[in-house]
Amino acid sequence: MSKILVIGAAGMIGAAVVEALGAENCIRASRNSGETVDISDPKSLEALFERLGELDGIVCAGGAARFKPWAETADVDWTFSLANKLLGQVNVVRYGASRVRAGGAITLTTGLAAQYPAPGSAIITTVNAGVEAFVRAAAVEPSIGVRVNAVSPGWVAETLKAMGRDPAGGIPAADVAQITVRQVRDGASGSVAPAAKR
Ligand SMILES: NC(=O)c1ccc[n+]([C@@H]2O[C@H](COP(=O)([O-])OP(=O)(O)OC[C@H]3O[C@@H](n4cnc5c(N)ncnc54)[C@H](OP(=O)(O)O)[C@@H]3O)[C@@H](O)[C@H]2O)c1
Repeated sequence: MSKILVIGAAGMIGAAVVEALGAENCIRASRNSGETVDISDPKSLEALFERLGELDGIVCAGGAARFKPWAETADVDWTFSLANKLLGQVNVVRYGASRVRAGGAITLTTGLAAQYPAPGSAIITTVNAGVEAFVRAAAVEPSIGVRVNAVSPGWVAETLKAMGRDPAGGIPAADVAQITVRQVRDGASGSVAPAAKR
């Protein structure tokens, strides 16, 4: 049995990741379910890692960033999103890496908006590109001591369906989860694996 922390485990992607890894191998966490953590709050992350002890790996499928028309974006939208999905995931690595056993991996979540901006995506495109740059930088820091990778989903089919849109253009959450599991288990570091409908 493994001990893999899944942050955002109750979410669309996180729940599929827990299923793919096997619930018995996972510790679920988020702000409102499982182990309590808010990745935008370093003290909350510190307390979580102190409680959990040594881990075999971490998957972060939590964190939020705002998709909003350019003319409506306010300072608070930028600061919320940067503190949450970008700095929050950076801090998962900063505070969590020393808690992961040698050979373990931390897998973050970005998104294809990093490469394919659209009207309204300025914040999320910036945040996702930042996460990807961080993953590449973390991989060449020998003292981090664990593999750091990311998965970059396109639209998830279940999310499109929940939005009342045609799910056919999306990738099933279970497929994103399989790609995540490969990032957890294989030997690479510094890689961002796309997870989109072909
Ligand atoms: N779904 C898509 O189509 C899609 C496409 C591209 C990229 N992504 C990215 O994939 C990731 C997961 O997406 P999703 O669709 O699975 O999202 P989701 O269904 O909204 O789930 C997000 C999960 O993260 C937790 N969470 C949010 N903010 C948190 C924080 N500050 N600290 C700790 N936990 C937090 C939430 O639980 P609590 O509310 O209990 O904290 C929830 O369990 C996100 O980064 C998203 O941007 C998703």
